[in-house]
Amino acid sequence: MPASVLVSTVRFEQRVTEMEKNGREEEKEAEQVVNPWEVSAKDGGKIDYDKLIDKFGCQRLDQTLISRVQRLTSRAPHVFLRRSVFFAHRDFNEILDSYERGDKFYLYTGRGPSSEALHLGHLVPFMFTKYLQDAFKVPLVIQLTDDEKCMWKNLSVEESQRLARENAKDIIACGFDITKTFIFSDFDYVGGAFYKNMVRVSKCVTYNKVVGIFGFTGEDHIGKISFPPVQAVPSFPSSFPHLFSGKDDLRCLIPCAIDQDPYFRMTRDVAPRIGYQKPALIESLFFPALQGETGKMSASDPNSAIYVTDSAKDIKNKVNKYAFSGGQDSIENHRKYGANLEVDIPIKYLGFFLEDDAELEHISKEYGAGRMLTGEVKKRLIEVLTEIVERHRRARAAVTDEMVDAFMAVRPLPNMFD
Ligand code: TYM
Ligand code: TRP
Repeated sequence: MPASVLVSTVRFEQRVTEMEKNGREEEKEAEQVVNPWEVSAKDGGKIDYDKLIDKFGCQRLDQTLISRVQRLTSRAPHVFLRRSVFFAHRDFNEILDSYERGDKFYLYTGRGPSSEALHLGHLVPFMFTKYLQDAFKVPLVIQLTDDEKCMWKNLSVEESQRLARENAKDIIACGFDITKTFIFSDFDYVGGAFYKNMVRVSKCVTYNKVVGIFGFTGEDHIGKISFPPVQAVPSFPSSFPHLFSGKDDLRCLIPCAIDQDPYFRMTRDVAPRIGYQKPALIESLFFPALQGETGKMSASDPNSAIYVTDSAKDIKNKVNKYAFSGGQDSIENHRKYGANLEVDIPIKYLGFFLEDDAELEHISKEYGAGRMLTGEVKKRLIEVLTEIVERHRRARAAVTDEMVDAFMAVRPLPNMFD
């Protein structure tokens, strides 16, 4: 039941943009669009994740894999696994196969520092990555693409670098282990072995190909066109000689939301041609906007998002004012028909962040049957979110500049596999 709260089985007549073939050209109609810059469902509908899996060519993360994770790590699978928040993968089974044989891997994820503060959607991949790091006891590299945001958003080099450091504090506050984690900003770290890999990748990707995957047009500046190799090469261990020297066969696992998939389709296409292993991926749904599941929570629309810097009062106001309700228009009808959980945002949010399975099941049942009202569900949601945000605020306040420097220092991590 809980998984079905999140992954809708309702089908809409949607056509995903076929990025490999035509990029932006095909996006003109009101179709579902999912790429690193835009996430929007077909008019009035919601994101159809089954279609995305088909079109992108990834695999569904099924119960067998989740049970394997549980067995291999000897701990309960994360709530994001149990509830299919992470719902798709590429070659994750191979990572588990080799882990079972005694071979470790490393994790790679990232953040484009486009805003001062993260929102709850950004916390999803980082919370999950922290669980993976603890459960599998593996090293992690986190890329801050300050260069990317400088080129896409109207930010100066200096401002992008400042935001990268601010965002690093929020990321560190998620609890990563400093003995196993290297955080880097592109502006600071690109060069040397990393740059050599960028050039190797660049030589394998034609202009037509990059236009096909990302939909660039002749009006886009050349910085955008040449950026994708920067996000690609942290997938290769040789990009980090201070960490993985002599471990060229180490496999890489990338946790991210599915909007980042185009970068890694490109990466996986190129990898064997330059003698490298393809990175594996584990991909999540979008934490939806307050207004509904037609889009992702996005930093560019403040009313769609709850930020980790929002006060208890902000959270209460935003949830009460904007969170789209599947409840009926009158109490009488609500008692009679119950809430439509398929479109209800409070219940979706609880599916991400209310850890107690029994309580979630209870609320879904009572609300769906009309015995519980939207106001009561929102009240519980406000409590849950306020607690997460408060906990995050305390953790972030404890992160000093020295800690940021320590996480970002180019250094060996001698105990990273222990
Ligand atoms: P960025 O900063 O847009 O997003 C950072 C991470 O958060 C995920 N994300 C979400 N997840 C769930 N619900 C949402 N509403 C939501 N919004 C964003 C993104 O998928 C991403 O995982 N180019 C990247 C930075 C990057 C990166 C990477 C990300 C560089 N290397 C490797 C993942 C893996 C970016 O701008 O992400
Ligand atoms: N969609 C991203 C956001 O809402 C912004 C973005 C711009 C982006 N360029 C990107 C994300 C490239 C990933 C990759 O913040």
